[in-house]
Amino acid sequence: MSSTEVLILKELLSAKGDFVSGSRLAESLGISRVAIWSHMEKLRSQGFNFEAIRSKGYRLTQRPNALNGALISASLPRAAEALKIVLREEIDSTNSEAERLLANDEPAPFLILAKLQTQGRGRFGRVWHSSENGNLYASFAFRPEISPARLSTFTLWMGINICECVNAFFRVQSNIKWPNDIHISGKKVAGILTEARMDADQTRDLVLGIGLNINGRAEDWPEELQTIATSIRQETGSQQDANRFTAALAGRVMLAYEQFVSDSYRSHLKEKWTSYDALEGRNVSLFQGEAKIEGKACGIDPHGALIVERLDGSRIQVRAGEVTLEK
Ligand code: BTN
Repeated sequence: MSSTEVLILKELLSAKGDFVSGSRLAESLGISRVAIWSHMEKLRSQGFNFEAIRSKGYRLTQRPNALNGALISASLPRAAEALKIVLREEIDSTNSEAERLLANDEPAPFLILAKLQTQGRGRFGRVWHSSENGNLYASFAFRPEISPARLSTFTLWMGINICECVNAFFRVQSNIKWPNDIHISGKKVAGILTEARMDADQTRDLVLGIGLNINGRAEDWPEELQTIATSIRQETGSQQDANRFTAALAGRVMLAYEQFVSDSYRSHLKEKWTSYDALEGRNVSLFQGEAKIEGKACGIDPHGALIVERLDGSRIQVRAGEVTLEK
């Protein structure tokens, strides 16, 4: 992705459909009009289109539907302006790629995106189906200077923020099934996979992986997922702009990350969790070792553990594992 193309797109996007003169573009970018034209040709080959009128300049008339790194970078809100974005056509897993780059001392934060993952993974080593169908496979990489103990609420806080961003952008009502599933109407639309490398008292690095079904359709998924998974397109009935959403999400994640690291999120966690909690007051079951535990979900404790009230009235804190919703 060329930084000049990002700057050209920024100028055209901020004109909101109006013309931007070629000489203004050339002047503000410090390159010749011929160079502008050649960058525009490259953008055309990526699925952009422009109307060019000699006396007026250029106007953006079409954007690509597929994920486009330059378009996402050009659309980033201020909170994520400095975020480096890498878009791969195909990768094993965006989390794995982020982890490799972190291990190679790549400066963080950065965001890895892919159109397709060949080994997308979820919690408990499960497969995350990741064909090239307009869904989002994204991994944010960080090096937070915080103790590992503080990470227990990270996925929950990010989940809340992802939920809010999804709801505001697509005008849907998603909620969170503790600890990392985002649901719409009881079906899973997104999953979060947080992975961290830790030393004894310090977090070395942290990857927040997000898989969000944006434009995928039920027929893209294996049969066993068709009744339990959904996409934004399925819920809204229309094709969605994955590029604009990804830029908005990047802004939201960067803000949420700052709030997390500075600890200012703490006073909002419980209240916000309550408004997106898909389990609150519902009957759930879970396994602890061989034992099946049944009870009612009663929100989270300050460390992010799920509180379950058992039939005898006693309460347990569930820190890990999978919870099933009972009818
Ligand atoms: C889950 O629900 O178990 C979590 C799924 C997380 C999937 C995302 S897709 C982008 C990133 N790369 C991966 O391999 N996994 C996460």
